[in-house]
Amino acid sequence: MCGIIGYIGSRQATPLLIGGLRKLEYRGYDSAGVSVFNDGMSRVVRCRGKLGNLEEKLKAEPAPGTVGIGHTRWATHGRPSDENSHPHKVGPVSVIHNGIIENHLQLRSELVASGSQFSSETDTEIFAHLVERQLVDGAPDLTTAVRRALLKVRGSYAFVVMSDKEPGTLVAAKNSSPLVVGLGEGENFVASDVTAILSETRKVIFIEEGELVTVTRDSVQITDFEGKPKQREPKIITWSAVQAEKGGFKHFMLKEIHEQPRAVADTLVGRVDLEGDDVRLDGVELDVKNIKRIIFIACGTSYHASMVGEFLVESLARIPVEVDLASEFRYRDPIVGPGDLVVAVSQSGETLDTMEAIREAKKKGATVLAISNVVESSIPRLADHAFYTHAGPEIGVASTKAFTTQLIGIALLAIYLGRRTNALSRERARTLLAELVQIPNKMRDVVEQGAHLQVLARRYGNATGFLFLGRGAQYPIALEGALKLKEISYIHAEGYAAGEMKHGPIALIDDQLPVVVLVPKGPSYEKTVSNLAEVRARQGKVLAIATRGDNEIGGHSDDVVLVPDTALELQPMLTVLPLQMLSYYVADQKGTDVDQPRNLAKSVTVE
Ligand code: AGP
Repeated sequence: MCGIIGYIGSRQATPLLIGGLRKLEYRGYDSAGVSVFNDGMSRVVRCRGKLGNLEEKLKAEPAPGTVGIGHTRWATHGRPSDENSHPHKVGPVSVIHNGIIENHLQLRSELVASGSQFSSETDTEIFAHLVERQLVDGAPDLTTAVRRALLKVRGSYAFVVMSDKEPGTLVAAKNSSPLVVGLGEGENFVASDVTAILSETRKVIFIEEGELVTVTRDSVQITDFEGKPKQREPKIITWSAVQAEKGGFKHFMLKEIHEQPRAVADTLVGRVDLEGDDVRLDGVELDVKNIKRIIFIACGTSYHASMVGEFLVESLARIPVEVDLASEFRYRDPIVGPGDLVVAVSQSGETLDTMEAIREAKKKGATVLAISNVVESSIPRLADHAFYTHAGPEIGVASTKAFTTQLIGIALLAIYLGRRTNALSRERARTLLAELVQIPNKMRDVVEQGAHLQVLARRYGNATGFLFLGRGAQYPIALEGALKLKEISYIHAEGYAAGEMKHGPIALIDDQLPVVVLVPKGPSYEKTVSNLAEVRARQGKVLAIATRGDNEIGGHSDDVVLVPDTALELQPMLTVLPLQMLSYYVADQKGTDVDQPRNLAKSVTVE
């Protein structure tokens, strides 16, 4: 998630832009820049690193002027670097962007073929070329040039554009990424969220999907992409600055739970080939016919995602899979070598155990693929190949959107492998991909059940222990649910394979122990229902996570949370959501520090 801000008025723009970007720093970024118009042209000053680097650069290269745009970049396409930083300027046109242009490869090749020269690896620079082309081809004004350029673009975006030929105007457009206009006296702002401008104005207009806005010092005109005017009453923001950072949610964790449909959709953008019934891994090409075994290596939540990966890859690609805790793998003198594909899963890309484990694997001749959420972090840089989730910065220590986007990334990998081992037919891939692109909407259905989970948290939240049970790909979800609960509420919780109940954990069952059971429709349903019966026969309290339309499960449970039906391989992306919300509401009612739980760090860079 990049930070965006624009200013047009009579005050010096640069201090306002930097001040606004500073308020967006909490979201994480790897580079920053501004473009400010003065004396006939806009000057772009930008660099890799934090805002302090940019401020140093601005001391040497001042950017005076009263109209400008500013940006903090969270890299998705193109590594963090000066030339990949925003704003991008082509001719008189400067652009900043938050989102992903899905058809960026096709647009770039068309522009290059017609003579455009690129100075960055980013998808954003493409849009600067498109707008500049429209002005050259006779667009009467910047708004028209942007509108015409947008017709060529597919993907998620919030763009803000300025032009040396029309310095009294900022033009912005929104499709999926957030965009807001801040209204002042003789001045106006645009931003990716109110946090950036709250210190300057509380009077805002939220721009909606498919809208384009033309902003001058004294006017704000909203239209749809076809040019039809839209009316929108300003709102007065009453949030505090801290509340604004959380988008009005009480904690970052809750905000990030609700961001998951968007994060998953962003992780799918540009990677699902519905025509070819295949997937693209951003140019990663694996020598699939020579892969004899896949070994997932990870820690914590990423390890649970890797355990789901074992089911996905073995089911769809029929390649033998092992899953290993990084902290165990690295000290075991593991039997690994050529023919092994080691998949390192890490949100931060900085977990030391995982990093050392893949060093060990590389030393022994294995090929390493990293799946990470942070472009150019240490683990992707160490790996032979890297593939990124697009969850955006995850602030809450307890991982939520990073986990579900890892499941998406691993599902894409499994389909990629299956199509190349021929274990996955084209028809089956088509069905699976059609279901995969529905997952964001189905996730939205589940995260909107918060009030129900809050009731359940009140009902069960005083227990001194929880047991989470699941079979098959739901077993890792049981482990993940237990981890979520213990790490933010400090209540002891165990995840267990449901089939293991009779081998010990059943001794724990009594009327004080809530048992959360993952029991979606599927081949393990009947067996898991019999586990529920064993629990209830011993007065255990059962909270079942089941498939919508299951009318039997209520008779076996004390409480039920229903999630939409989906393909068996994709069920974990939905069944984990109620567990995240249950843990959140239990912790919230206990009053623990949900976003920064005691003793925990967001990235474990020590051994
Ligand atoms: C998950 O809620 C925890 N914050 C922790 O288990 C985390 O998943 C683990 O430390 C691995 O981190 P990584 O994905 O950044 O490597």
